[in-house]
Amino acid sequence: MKKILVAYYSRTGTTRKVAELIAQKLGAELEEIKDTVDRSGIKGYLLSGRDATLKRLTELYPIAKNPADYDLVLVGTPIWSWNVSAPIRTYVTQQKNNLKSVAYFCTMGGSGDGRAFGTLTEISGQKPLATLSLKTKEVLSGDIEKSITDFTEKLRD
Ligand SMILES: Cc1cc2nc3c(=O)[nH]c(=O)nc-3n(C[C@H](O)[C@H](O)[C@H](O)COP(=O)(O)O)c2cc1C
Repeated sequence: MKKILVAYYSRTGTTRKVAELIAQKLGAELEEIKDTVDRSGIKGYLLSGRDATLKRLTELYPIAKNPADYDLVLVGTPIWSWNVSAPIRTYVTQQKNNLKSVAYFCTMGGSGDGRAFGTLTEISGQKPLATLSLKTKEVLSGDIEKSITDFTEKLRD
Protein backbone atom coordinates (compact mmCIF):
# COMPACT_ATOMS: atom_id res chain seq x y z
CA MET A 1 0.00 0.00 0.00
CA LYS A 2 1.29 3.40 -0.99
CA LYS A 3 1.47 6.05 1.72
CA ILE A 4 -0.35 9.09 0.35
CA LEU A 5 -0.64 12.71 1.51
CA VAL A 6 -3.21 15.21 0.25
CA ALA A 7 -1.79 18.72 0.81
CA TYR A 8 -4.10 21.58 -0.07
CA TYR A 9 -4.93 25.22 0.49
CA SER A 10 -8.46 26.56 0.47
CA ARG A 11 -9.55 30.16 1.01
CA THR A 12 -13.29 29.56 0.98
CA GLY A 13 -13.73 25.81 1.44
CA THR A 14 -14.18 24.55 -2.13
CA THR A 15 -10.77 22.95 -2.54
CA ARG A 16 -11.05 21.61 1.02
CA LYS A 17 -14.19 19.72 0.09
CA VAL A 18 -12.45 18.09 -2.88
CA ALA A 19 -9.34 17.31 -0.82
CA GLU A 20 -11.42 15.57 1.83
CA LEU A 21 -13.26 13.43 -0.72
CA ILE A 22 -10.02 12.44 -2.45
CA ALA A 23 -8.35 11.57 0.86
CA GLN A 24 -11.32 9.44 1.86
CA LYS A 25 -11.22 7.52 -1.44
CA LEU A 26 -7.49 6.86 -1.24
CA GLY A 27 -7.17 6.32 2.50
CA ALA A 28 -4.73 9.25 2.44
CA GLU A 29 -3.69 11.68 5.15
CA LEU A 30 -4.58 15.37 4.90
CA GLU A 31 -2.46 18.47 5.36
CA GLU A 32 -4.24 21.80 5.17
CA ILE A 33 -1.74 24.49 4.21
CA LYS A 34 -2.41 27.61 6.27
CA ASP A 35 -1.32 31.10 5.38
CA THR A 36 -0.35 33.71 7.98
CA VAL A 37 -1.76 36.38 5.67
CA ASP A 38 -5.42 37.35 6.19
CA ARG A 39 -7.06 36.72 2.80
CA SER A 40 -10.66 37.17 3.88
CA GLY A 41 -13.14 39.57 2.32
CA ILE A 42 -12.72 41.82 -0.68
CA LYS A 43 -9.38 43.13 0.55
CA GLY A 44 -8.11 39.55 0.83
CA TYR A 45 -9.45 38.74 -2.63
CA LEU A 46 -7.63 41.67 -4.22
CA LEU A 47 -4.42 40.92 -2.35
CA SER A 48 -4.58 37.26 -3.38
CA GLY A 49 -5.13 38.14 -7.04
CA ARG A 50 -2.14 40.44 -6.96
CA ASP A 51 0.08 37.91 -5.16
CA ALA A 52 -0.76 35.27 -7.77
CA THR A 53 -0.18 37.62 -10.71
CA LEU A 54 3.17 38.74 -9.31
CA LYS A 55 4.11 35.11 -8.46
CA ARG A 56 4.76 36.15 -4.87
CA LEU A 57 5.52 33.71 -2.09
CA THR A 58 3.83 34.04 1.29
CA GLU A 59 4.56 33.04 4.87
CA LEU A 60 2.92 29.75 5.83
CA TYR A 61 2.23 28.38 9.29
CA PRO A 62 4.47 25.36 10.01
CA ILE A 63 3.31 22.15 8.36
CA ALA A 64 2.48 19.08 10.43
CA LYS A 65 3.54 16.36 8.00
CA ASN A 66 6.80 15.85 6.17
CA PRO A 67 5.99 15.09 2.50
CA ALA A 68 9.22 13.06 2.28
CA ASP A 69 7.50 10.41 4.42
CA TYR A 70 4.94 9.72 1.66
CA ASP A 71 5.21 7.75 -1.61
CA LEU A 72 2.80 10.15 -3.31
CA VAL A 73 1.75 13.72 -2.53
CA LEU A 74 -1.40 15.19 -4.06
CA VAL A 75 -1.27 18.97 -4.19
CA GLY A 76 -4.54 20.91 -4.35
CA THR A 77 -4.98 24.62 -5.06
CA PRO A 78 -7.68 27.09 -6.00
CA ILE A 79 -6.92 28.96 -9.24
CA TRP A 80 -6.01 32.59 -8.64
CA SER A 81 -5.52 34.96 -11.58
CA TRP A 82 -5.17 32.05 -14.02
CA ASN A 83 -2.43 30.55 -11.91
CA VAL A 84 -1.60 28.62 -8.74
CA SER A 85 -2.49 30.24 -5.38
CA ALA A 86 0.33 31.93 -3.45
CA PRO A 87 0.20 29.49 -0.50
CA ILE A 88 0.57 26.46 -2.78
CA ARG A 89 3.30 28.14 -4.84
CA THR A 90 5.08 28.62 -1.51
CA TYR A 91 4.48 25.05 -0.27
CA VAL A 92 5.77 23.43 -3.45
CA THR A 93 8.75 25.78 -3.63
CA GLN A 94 9.71 24.89 -0.06
CA GLN A 95 9.03 21.15 -0.33
CA LYS A 96 10.13 20.37 -3.89
CA ASN A 97 13.04 18.21 -2.76
CA ASN A 98 10.73 16.22 -0.48
CA LEU A 99 8.27 15.14 -3.18
CA LYS A 100 8.84 11.60 -4.47
CA SER A 101 5.83 11.51 -6.74
CA VAL A 102 3.00 14.01 -7.32
CA ALA A 103 -0.51 14.56 -8.64
CA TYR A 104 -2.26 17.93 -8.87
CA PHE A 105 -5.85 19.05 -8.48
CA CYS A 106 -7.55 22.41 -8.51
CA THR A 107 -10.88 24.16 -8.23
CA MET A 108 -11.72 27.24 -10.27
CA GLY A 109 -14.49 29.45 -11.55
CA GLY A 110 -13.77 28.48 -15.14
CA SER A 111 -10.18 28.62 -16.40
CA GLY A 112 -6.50 28.74 -15.57
CA ASP A 113 -5.91 25.11 -14.61
CA GLY A 114 -3.51 24.32 -17.47
CA ARG A 115 -1.22 27.19 -16.60
CA ALA A 116 -1.35 26.41 -12.87
CA PHE A 117 -0.44 22.75 -13.41
CA GLY A 118 2.38 23.88 -15.72
CA THR A 119 3.68 26.16 -12.99
CA LEU A 120 3.54 23.37 -10.39
CA THR A 121 5.38 21.00 -12.74
CA GLU A 122 8.03 23.63 -13.33
CA ILE A 123 8.55 24.46 -9.64
CA SER A 124 8.55 20.86 -8.38
CA GLY A 125 10.46 19.52 -11.37
CA GLN A 126 7.92 16.68 -11.38
CA LYS A 127 5.34 15.67 -13.94
CA PRO A 128 2.10 14.71 -12.20
CA LEU A 129 0.85 11.10 -12.37
CA ALA A 130 -2.62 12.61 -12.94
CA THR A 131 -4.44 15.94 -12.69
CA LEU A 132 -8.01 16.90 -11.83
CA SER A 133 -9.72 20.25 -12.50
CA LEU A 134 -13.15 20.98 -11.08
CA LYS A 135 -15.33 24.03 -11.35
CA THR A 136 -16.53 25.67 -8.14
CA LYS A 137 -20.11 25.26 -9.32
CA GLU A 138 -19.71 21.50 -9.80
CA VAL A 139 -18.14 21.10 -6.36
CA LEU A 140 -20.90 23.05 -4.66
CA SER A 141 -23.63 21.13 -6.47
CA GLY A 142 -21.99 17.91 -5.30
CA ASP A 143 -21.78 16.42 -8.78
CA ILE A 144 -18.13 15.33 -8.65
CA GLU A 145 -18.17 11.69 -7.58
CA LYS A 146 -17.28 10.31 -11.02
CA SER A 147 -14.50 12.83 -11.70
CA ILE A 148 -12.94 12.08 -8.35
CA THR A 149 -13.16 8.32 -8.83
CA ASP A 150 -11.58 8.57 -12.31
CA PHE A 151 -8.74 10.64 -10.83
CA THR A 152 -8.07 8.42 -7.83
CA GLU A 153 -8.20 5.23 -9.94
CA LYS A 154 -5.22 6.54 -11.94
CA LEU A 155 -3.24 6.80 -8.71
CA ARG A 156 -3.84 3.37 -7.22
CA ASP A 157 -1.26 1.34 -9.17
C1 LIG B 1 -7.97 36.13 -6.01
C2 LIG B 1 -8.77 35.15 -6.80
C3 LIG B 1 -8.53 35.00 -8.15
C4 LIG B 1 -9.25 34.06 -8.89
N1 LIG B 1 -8.94 33.87 -10.22
C5 LIG B 1 -9.56 32.90 -10.92
C6 LIG B 1 -9.18 32.60 -12.28
O1 LIG B 1 -8.26 33.18 -12.84
N2 LIG B 1 -9.87 31.64 -12.95
C7 LIG B 1 -10.89 30.94 -12.37
O2 LIG B 1 -11.46 30.08 -13.02
N3 LIG B 1 -11.27 31.17 -11.08
C8 LIG B 1 -10.62 32.12 -10.34
N4 LIG B 1 -10.98 32.35 -9.02
C9 LIG B 1 -12.04 31.54 -8.42
C10 LIG B 1 -11.50 30.40 -7.55
O3 LIG B 1 -10.50 29.66 -8.22
C11 LIG B 1 -12.61 29.43 -7.16
O4 LIG B 1 -13.68 30.13 -6.57
C12 LIG B 1 -12.11 28.32 -6.25
O5 LIG B 1 -13.02 27.24 -6.29
C13 LIG B 1 -11.97 28.78 -4.81
O6 LIG B 1 -11.48 27.73 -4.02
P1 LIG B 1 -11.46 27.76 -2.42
O7 LIG B 1 -12.88 27.90 -1.96
O8 LIG B 1 -10.84 26.47 -2.06
O9 LIG B 1 -10.64 28.94 -1.99
C14 LIG B 1 -10.27 33.29 -8.26
C15 LIG B 1 -10.51 33.45 -6.89
C16 LIG B 1 -9.75 34.34 -6.15
C17 LIG B 1 -9.97 34.48 -4.67
